[in-house]
Amino acid sequence: FSISYIIVKDDKPIESYGLNAVCTHLGCVVPWSGANNKFICPCHGSQYAPDGHVVRGPAPLPLALAHCDTSEEDGKIVFSPWTEDDFRTGSKGWWN
Ligand code: FES
Repeated sequence: FSISYIIVKDDKPIESYGLNAVCTHLGCVVPWSGANNKFICPCHGSQYAPDGHVVRGPAPLPLALAHCDTSEEDGKIVFSPWTEDDFRTGSKGWWN
C-alpha cells in the first residue's frame, strides 16, 4: 500500500484524501505536472486530473484513493485505506 502524493490546496492545508500515483495502465509512477495541472504518465501518455480521474487514456481507471489525515499527537500525515465508494465514479473503488 504505497501512496506517493497528497493533495495540497491554497485554502486548506491538506485535502482529506491522497492519491496513489501508480498509473492504472501498466503501473508506471505518474508525476504531477504543475504546468499542465495534471498528472501525466511518462510511459504511454495517460493523463489524470488533480482528483485522479482519467482525462486521457490509455489508463482505464482513476488513480486509487486513500484517506489522509493529520495525527493529533505528532502532526504527521497518516494514510489509511479508502474502503468507501469512489466519489469520482460514485461506485465501489476498483482497488477494493
Ligand atoms: Fe501509464 Fe501506460 S503505464 S500510460
